Amino acid sequence: KLQLTLAVLKPDISLNEKAVSEIRKIILQDNYLFIRTKFHKLTLNQAKDFYKVHEKKFFYNRLVYSMSSGPIWCHILARENAIKEWRKLMGPTKVFKTIYDDPNSLRGNYGVTDTRNTLHGSDSDENAKAEMDFFFPEFDFESWYAKE
Ligand code: CMP
Repeated sequence: KLQLTLAVLKPDISLNEKAVSEIRKIILQDNYLFIRTKFHKLTLNQAKDFYKVHEKKFFYNRLVYSMSSGPIWCHILARENAIKEWRKLMGPTKVFKTIYDDPNSLRGNYGVTDTRNTLHGSDSDENAKAEMDFFFPEFDFESWYAKE
């Protein structure tokens, strides 16, 4: 059974063509299907809206400025256990942790700081739906799941 998730390549990496194509290759080798792809630039207000659950966190400002600092690649990916597996492939949120826990993860290879950790992935089915809707309002995931 395939599951959908939202995978975002952040501004830290989206203009690095070599890194983007390396990451896409790894995604394909890990048995994901690319369902939708969009090159997108968030305004500061859109980034604030996307990350509003983190509004009260100390890193909120740096996060929303960083996310709106350049273009991003947004993808809807499908795979068995896509949400959990994509988070595993990305590695820990905090890049310094990848040094000990998961140096071969995507964040371990490409991440720069805890904020500029190069990738985002949905953390639950409910959030995946909300996030797909945010970036791909025209995508009808309910009928996609109905056919699947
Ligand atoms: P992401 O998976 O996009 O979800 C929330 C983002 O907040 C996270 O990746 C990081 O970019 C950022 N973030 C989370 N924790 C921290 C932290 N401790 N310090 C700085 N930025 C963080």
